[in-house]
Amino acid sequence: MQKCVEISTKSDKDTKAVGEILARSLMEDGPRKVATLVSLEGDLGAGKTTFVQGFAKGLGIKEIPKSPTFVLMKIFRIPGKKGRKHFENLIHMDVYRISARDLNALEWSDFSKNPANLILVEWGGRIKKAFSKKVLRVIFEHGKNEKERILRIQE
Ligand SMILES: Nc1ncnc2c1ncn2[C@@H]1O[C@H](COP(=O)(O)OP(=O)(O)O)[C@@H](O)[C@H]1O
Ligand SMILES: [Mg+2]
Repeated sequence: MQKCVEISTKSDKDTKAVGEILARSLMEDGPRKVATLVSLEGDLGAGKTTFVQGFAKGLGIKEIPKSPTFVLMKIFRIPGKKGRKHFENLIHMDVYRISARDLNALEWSDFSKNPANLILVEWGGRIKKAFSKKVLRVIFEHGKNEKERILRIQE
């Protein structure tokens, strides 16, 4: 059965906190055979990058992720101390400007196989074909007021 959680956030701080909680909970999952994929979907300004900032913090990463639209991909090393367990790298991607076919150039098939990788893909809905069936989706929508966002997390 498909599980779905809906959360309303009232500030960027709230959205970061949700990212942080999700990061921690994924760390507690058992080891996998391939990389763990999270697809972040929603319009510009919906809060995807903000969420990744909280997520990285939850993994103990000191650097603050920025929008990777122009760099396409950035790899962060997950530090050992904060209970890294089986994950070693956070890979933050933004595929707004690329298609599933372009992923080969980014060595997608290699790094999506590696269980040590936790991959967060902004605009992941655009490259659905490249994802295995097991992808966690976080869908962002603007809420009723300027600072509200609705986050739907589904497996
Ligand atoms: N509840 C909220 N959650 C996330 N961001 C919010 C929220 N309220 C206001 N914001 C603002 O909205 C913008 C979201 O931008 P960003 O995270 O870069 O979006 P995206 O990556 O989806 O384009 C930021 O300027 C952030 O401060
Ligand atoms: Mg972004």
